[in-house]
Amino acid sequence: MCGIFGCVLSEGSAAPIIHRALERLEYRGYDSVGEATVYGGRVHVKKAAGKIGEIHKLLNLDDLPGSVGIGHTRWATHGKPSDRNAHPLFDCKENVAVVHNGIIENYQELKDMLIEKGHSFISDTDTEIIPHLIEENISLGLEKAVMEAVRKFEGRYAIAAISSDENMLVGVRRGSPLIVGRSENKTFIASDIPAFLNHTNQVMYLDDNEMVVIDGNVRFFNTETGQSIEKRLITINWDAKQAEKGEYPYFVIKEIMEQKETIMRAINQDENTILRTAEEIKRAYGTFFTGCGTAGKVCMAGEYIFSKVAKKHVNFVISSEFPNYKHFLTDKTLLITISQSGETADLMEAVETARKMGVKVLSLVNVMGSSLYRNSDYAFLLNAGPEKAVASTKATTAQLALVTLLAYAVAGRLQEGKRLLMETASKVNDMLNPRYEARIAELARKLKDSQSIYIIGRSLNYPMAMEAAIKIMELSNIHAQGFAGGELKHGPLALIQDGTPCIVFAANDETRVDIISNAMEVKARGGYIIGVSPRNNEVFDYWIKVPDVGNASPVVNIIPIQILAYHLALLRGCDPDYCRNLAKSVTVK
Ligand code: M6R
Repeated sequence: MCGIFGCVLSEGSAAPIIHRALERLEYRGYDSVGEATVYGGRVHVKKAAGKIGEIHKLLNLDDLPGSVGIGHTRWATHGKPSDRNAHPLFDCKENVAVVHNGIIENYQELKDMLIEKGHSFISDTDTEIIPHLIEENISLGLEKAVMEAVRKFEGRYAIAAISSDENMLVGVRRGSPLIVGRSENKTFIASDIPAFLNHTNQVMYLDDNEMVVIDGNVRFFNTETGQSIEKRLITINWDAKQAEKGEYPYFVIKEIMEQKETIMRAINQDENTILRTAEEIKRAYGTFFTGCGTAGKVCMAGEYIFSKVAKKHVNFVISSEFPNYKHFLTDKTLLITISQSGETADLMEAVETARKMGVKVLSLVNVMGSSLYRNSDYAFLLNAGPEKAVASTKATTAQLALVTLLAYAVAGRLQEGKRLLMETASKVNDMLNPRYEARIAELARKLKDSQSIYIIGRSLNYPMAMEAAIKIMELSNIHAQGFAGGELKHGPLALIQDGTPCIVFAANDETRVDIISNAMEVKARGGYIIGVSPRNNEVFDYWIKVPDVGNASPVVNIIPIQILAYHLALLRGCDPDYCRNLAKSVTVK
C-alpha cells in the first residue's frame, strides 16, 4: 500500500536506481509515480499519475541529476490519483521533498495550523503537511527538522525526506514498513526488500518510532527520546532472481507455478520447533486464528482442520473485527496469526490488542523481518519466496500446508501429517503441467462473460469456496461468492438461473454425498456445475480433476481456481498482477 524508496550513493546517478526500485515496488500501488533528487542546491522532481511504464515513456525517469533521492508509487487514500496528488510532495519553497506510506490521522488539524502560519498547500493529500512541518524547522538541518515534525503526527506511516541543502536522506517508521539496505557504496531505504535486492541482501530493520539518517554514515535514533540506537546487519536469504518474472508473462502465473516447490518448503520446518509449538497450542486456554483477506480464509480453514484433525477448537476472527473480542483475552490466550506480508495494518492492530492483554502471539508469515515476524513470540517462516502479484497464491497454499502440519502435530501425529503433505506437494508438482492449465483455460473461455460465479464447499472446503471467490473477483472482476453447500437452500439458490456457473468442491471425504446433493439442487435450477474433485460425477457439466489428498484437500482444490482466475483475467483484459483498486500489503486500516 504505497511503496517508498530512497538511496544515497557515494557516486553515480540515483535516478535509474530509484526508477528500477519503483518498478519492483509497483505491486504496492499503481495510481501514480514520482521521484526527486538533490543536486546543485535544488530538489529536482518528476512525477505523474499512471503506471510507471507509461510515465517513464513520457518523462524519462532515469534522467534526474544527483546521487541522493527518493521515490514513490502510490495507492491513493486521501485525494484521487492525479499529478497534483502524486508524491513526492513539497514545502512552500520546494526545498523539502517527502514520500509517505500510511495515513496521518491528525493531518486536518495540522494543516489548519500551518495555513494559519502562512503555508500554502496544492494537493488533497494528508502527506503534504509533512514537508511543511519540516520546513518550519529546516534552519536546524533536515535531521532535526524531521525529528521535530514527526513528534506532531498521529497515525501509521513510513516517510522518506530530502532537502535541497544536504546530501542526506532521512527515513522514519511508525506502523508502516521501512527497511535499510547497505552495500559497500550505496545505502537504501524501502518499504520492501526486493526494491534493492539486486544491490544487496544486507539489511537493517527500523522499528516503530525510529528514524534513520543516511549521509556518509548511517545513524539510527528513537524519535520519542532522541537517543541513538545500534542496529544489527542481517543477511536475507532471498535472491534478486526470485523477485523477477523470469520467463513468465506475469508474476501471478509464475507464483502459481512455483507451488510445485513452495508447499514442500513450507513444511520443511524444524521438527522440535513444531513439537514445542504444538505443546504451546495445547497448553493455551483460549486460542484464536486471525488474518485478513485470503490469509483470513486460511485461518478459517485452520479452524476446521484443527477441529477435524486435532479435535481442538480454535476461534477464528478476521483481524479487523478482532478488537471486539478483547474481553475474552487473558495471559493464557494464544493468538495464531497468518499473513504473507506480515505488515497488514488490521492484523497488526489485532496483535497490539492481544499484546495489551498479555496474549502470546504465534505467527505463520512469509516475510522475514516483517513487523509481524518481529512482534511474535513464536514465528514460522513460510519460505515461499517473494510474492509480488497482488493476488496471493503460493503463500496461501504454504499457509494451508503449515496449518495442517501444526494440526497433525497437536494431534500427536506429526509424522503422518508430514507424509500426507509431502505426498500432496508431489501431487501438486504433477498437477501443474501445461495440459492441466490448458483444460482450465478452456473452462475460462466458457465462463469469461459470466455475470456471477458461485462456489460451494463444505467443512474444510467451505473457507476455500470463499477464497476461490476472492481469487475470481480480484483477478477477473467478475462477481463471485462462496457459500457453505448447506446454506444454499436458505437464500442463495434464488440467484441461480439458466447457465449460472457454480463451482463445487467435492472432496473425497464424509461431505461428498451432501455436497453432490447441493450441486444437484443448483443443477435442477439451471446451474452449470463445475466439479473440482478427485472423482467425476454425473452432476458435473465440467470436471476439473484434483488429486485425492484427504485432509489436505484445501491445498489442491484452490490451485485450479487460481489458474482459472488468471485465465479469466487475461480473457477480460484485466492486469493479472495489479488487481483493480487493490494493492499488496495493506498497511492502512
Ligand atoms: O499480507 P497478508 O497475507 O496479511 O495480506 C492479507 C490480505 O490483504 C491478502 O490476502 C489479500 O486478500 C490478497 N489480495 C488476496 O489475494
